[in-house]
Amino acid sequence: MSQYQENATIIRYEQLSEANIRLTLQSDAIAGAARPGQFVMIKTATGKDPMLRRPFSIHQTSSTGRLQILFKIIGRGTNLLAHCRIGETLSLFGPLGHGFDIHTERPACIVGGGMGIAPMLFLAKRMSRLKKDTAGDTILFGGRTQMEVEPLVRDFQQIGMRCITATDDGSYGREGFVTEIIQKLKLPQETVIYACGPEAMLKQLHIYTQVKKMECQVSVESVMACGMGACLGCNIPAHDGHYVHVCYEGPVFHAKELVWK
Ligand SMILES: Cc1cc2nc3c(=O)[nH]c(=O)nc-3n(C[C@H](O)[C@H](O)[C@H](O)COP(=O)(O)OP(=O)(O)OC[C@H]3O[C@@H](n4cnc5c(N)ncnc54)[C@H](O)[C@@H]3O)c2cc1C
Ligand code: FES
Repeated sequence: MSQYQENATIIRYEQLSEANIRLTLQSDAIAGAARPGQFVMIKTATGKDPMLRRPFSIHQTSSTGRLQILFKIIGRGTNLLAHCRIGETLSLFGPLGHGFDIHTERPACIVGGGMGIAPMLFLAKRMSRLKKDTAGDTILFGGRTQMEVEPLVRDFQQIGMRCITATDDGSYGREGFVTEIIQKLKLPQETVIYACGPEAMLKQLHIYTQVKKMECQVSVESVMACGMGACLGCNIPAHDGHYVHVCYEGPVFHAKELVWK
């Protein structure tokens, strides 16, 4: 699989809420090669602080070479990104990692929690292009409050799958965690769950799908230094006693492959 280092120009800047920002970049090579669930490593500073690139899921791509990331400001690197402006360039490296395996003949339930919603737009769009029929597919996404969820609803509704939203405080969509809501959906057993979100959410989905004997693919996070298998920094334990690299064996794994604490 080809990877590229590309200086990508910022062509759109959207402040979706106080802390959540979406950047659109012109990144022809990476956008052209990317698959849902893959990520890019971005250099957030021109100087040495921070020295390391930061990983971000590919939120969506276009046939015209555009690539979007959706991120939350949490520290130095994301703060610097938030201060970038249209016309500036960022150094991107990617696409990286193993993405989602899309089953075109089985119903899907795409679950995103918090910033875990970021890779799911790309996944849902690609899925709707590959599948003959998405009538049995569901997108379920939630966040803490309305501000985290509402700005993304239109993008997901346009895909044509059933779209269910939830917030922890009930300020938008259904009240509660997506892990509670999924239990009420009565999904057929052959449904494949594709999920990204906080570890506690993924663990609950793993337990739910084990009980129901359903397939569950999860995109997980880990602290990353290189993003390409060279530093061992992203290792996490797998169920067979071995460790796996999140950066190139993941970030998407079958939930049953991992150890859930
Ligand atoms: C494969 C992958 C895809 C990702 N996709 C996205 C995305 O689409 N959108 C998005 O907003 N974020 C995403 N992240 C997380 C993102 O990489 C981190 O938020 C970012 O690196 C933080 O950089 P910073 O310099 O702002 O924070 P730092 O200054 O490096 O850290 C600030 C604080 O956040 C903690 N922290 C740093 N990274 C993480 C992490 N991965 N998980 C939990 N806590 C962390 C640190 O321990 C520290 O306490 C992804 C991470 C991975 C591994
Ligand atoms: S981040 Fe370096 S090996 Fe995965």
